[in-house]
Amino acid sequence: MTASGTFGYGTEYSHMFDIQKLGAIVCKGTTLEPRDGNPQPRLADAACGLLNSIGLQNIGVDALIREKAPIWAGWRVPVIVNIAGETIDDYARLASRLDGVAGISGIEVNISCPNIKAGGAEFGSTPKSAAEVTTAVKAATSLPILVKLTPNTADIAEVAMAVAEAGADAISLINSLKGMAIDIAQRRPLLGRITGGLSGPAIKPVALHMVYEVAGAVRLPVIGCGGITAASDAIEFIMAGASAIQVGTASLANPRAPLDVLEGIEQFLKQEGINNLADLIGAARR
Ligand SMILES: Cc1cc2nc3c(=O)[nH]c(=O)nc-3n(C[C@H](O)[C@H](O)[C@H](O)COP(=O)(O)O)c2cc1C
Repeated sequence: MTASGTFGYGTEYSHMFDIQKLGAIVCKGTTLEPRDGNPQPRLADAACGLLNSIGLQNIGVDALIREKAPIWAGWRVPVIVNIAGETIDDYARLASRLDGVAGISGIEVNISCPNIKAGGAEFGSTPKSAAEVTTAVKAATSLPILVKLTPNTADIAEVAMAVAEAGADAISLINSLKGMAIDIAQRRPLLGRITGGLSGPAIKPVALHMVYEVAGAVRLPVIGCGGITAASDAIEFIMAGASAIQVGTASLANPRAPLDVLEGIEQFLKQEGINNLADLIGAARR
């Protein structure tokens, strides 16, 4: 799959390579109203990674349903809509708007967003608020729901268990890690919003460990994400217990990265004489 926010709405890439070969496309985080996002600068380099503070710039759910879903309805590749809100009610309303829309195969719930009613703590930072969002979304839609966990929490396995109990169909992880950079000449933070999210190869060992922990704690399918650039990275996540993976930051440098990773996995399976990827899931746990 593509990771949310790194592959637009998929439409931007359909002329570059055969995106229909991918497992799924997860679109940019979508909110009830359109958003312009955060002030510039919104991107900064980090060693082996990237800091971003895009701030959920997106066209809003109405335009998504009107303009994007009809295109997706003609695609073979399933599209999953990533949703983001500031209140539990926002998430529920988004889920209910997307329910039954042709071209939308599932919802990925981004719980890394600040809960404005709880002083701005991320919904996903505690098991309780993560479960509340999941319950509300589940009640509002018949679509399968993936709940995307934040690494910015004390115990991600606890959050995963709460979300599983609340009715998630699958769990994806991880979102970016909180970080910042400072321009020493200006003596000011480099990002307009001060704080950003760290992604890319720098976070892979952290993401892999969290996937390993979560896959050991829940019985749901786990979708691994964080720093996957090559097929060998993806295979590590699968061996840690992921049933599927997402490619994010790597697509920004090489839009074809998700397909390269997929083809690399197929090549590895052939080379190892494995017929079914399922045989590799959790192989490093046994
Ligand atoms: C520019 C950018 C925008 C992102 N936007 C979103 C978003 O809208 N919703 C979301 O859930 N995750 C978003 N993410 C997080 C990614 O989907 C992914 O979880 C994270 O970057 C880790 O994977 P990676 O190291 O492969 O990029 C964004 C990441 C980047 C780099």
